[in-house]
Amino acid sequence: MSLELEPFWMPFTHNRMFKKSPRLIERGEGMYYQTSDGHSVLDAISGLWCSNAGHRHPKIVQAVKDQLDELDFTAPFQSGHPKAFMLAEAIKEVSPVGLNHVFLTSSGSEACDTALKIALAYHHSTGEVQRTRFVGREKGYHGVGFGGISVGGIDANKKAFKASLLPGTLHLPHTHNLSKMAFSKGQPVWGDHLADNLEALVDANGSETIAGVIVEPMQGSAGVIVPPLGYLKKLRSICDAHQILLIFDEVITGFGRLGEWFAADRFGVIPDMIIFAKGVTSGVVPLGGVIVRDSIYNEIMVGPSHLVEFFHGYTNSGHPLACAAGISAINVYESEGLLAKSRKLEIELEEAIHSLRDEAHVVDIRNIGMAAAIEFETRNNQTSMRAMEIFQYCFDHGVMVRYTGDIIAIGPALVCDETEIEVIIETIRSAIRAVA
Ligand SMILES: Cc1ncc(COP(=O)(O)O)c(C=O)c1O
Repeated sequence: MSLELEPFWMPFTHNRMFKKSPRLIERGEGMYYQTSDGHSVLDAISGLWCSNAGHRHPKIVQAVKDQLDELDFTAPFQSGHPKAFMLAEAIKEVSPVGLNHVFLTSSGSEACDTALKIALAYHHSTGEVQRTRFVGREKGYHGVGFGGISVGGIDANKKAFKASLLPGTLHLPHTHNLSKMAFSKGQPVWGDHLADNLEALVDANGSETIAGVIVEPMQGSAGVIVPPLGYLKKLRSICDAHQILLIFDEVITGFGRLGEWFAADRFGVIPDMIIFAKGVTSGVVPLGGVIVRDSIYNEIMVGPSHLVEFFHGYTNSGHPLACAAGISAINVYESEGLLAKSRKLEIELEEAIHSLRDEAHVVDIRNIGMAAAIEFETRNNQTSMRAMEIFQYCFDHGVMVRYTGDIIAIGPALVCDETEIEVIIETIRSAIRAVA
């Protein structure tokens, strides 16, 4: 059967170019994909920062199959099924102290918009109805809903939609500065003062107008931008001083990517809400959500008890298959010690990737947990060309990386081994040498 490529409008893809020369993956297992033409490809990016336990982990797959034999679907409004409650309990158990309530969605984008709405509902309930502004950050990515692109800071994602964004949204400067922090290992020592810009935004706009601050603790989509030492702590204390909610978007960093359940644990800063998706099921079934501080939940649980407290939810909030996958994935991370394992692998990954420092056109290498990036000089004002060619070379030579702008990002699954890290890095090295 010949495959018709035209009807599928691919997301975040140059459709016309891709369809001339498609890369089609047909199977996956552990660290590896198999392409339609039978090649094995080492997945250095966990799908898309999702498959933290590797592809088709047998226990997670079995849990989903078992769930299909039990219950396919039931409405999440005004009825429920046990696995949704069990999943929320399992997430609560691994969440920072004080964050004990979980709202479920099917994606990170839905989860981001949900968190923004929870923040507004909270302030509405406390009577501070004028707190409607959000503060995001340049280069931030919070999915593609209207809320998410409003607080997000990637211009290309907003350009065509500028007229319809949330009003009053403000942005902190990003923390990426090559002259001050290139080739940092882990957290850069320079840059915590950039958090003071939040104080300036508060002064200029009035703290009483600001509902929440939303940041990715580590900016993933912008190319693994690691927070400077002390930066997140400063954001936390400025938010505390002005009763502003702090929201961490942990869609990439959650569920083990930084060697802890959450970046909040890694950086020792507890936000008021944590947004998650991707790794919660190891990518096996789409699932996302928001973990919410008790005081926020309790503030919204008011009024006559026969009335809906929060007018928000999705048909698939807590889909049985997603819940079964999530419960099983959390169990796998725990029982196989994957977080601790990845803390050891992080050392190997750091050493290996920084060995590319002297290769041509490399202007920065950065890493934390099982996430790392290499940034290249832009060639002839053609942003992305060099990284795209390196990406293609790697794929043709059996390694899947990710590129964004002039950056190659990698995020291997927590189940990978040292040999696989070496293959990934040496393939990237050959690619840099092959691509002018
Ligand atoms: C930090 C962050 N937030 C939100 C999202 C959106 O998630 P989804 O693509 O599942 O909607 C992503 C996706 O990469 C992300 O990295």
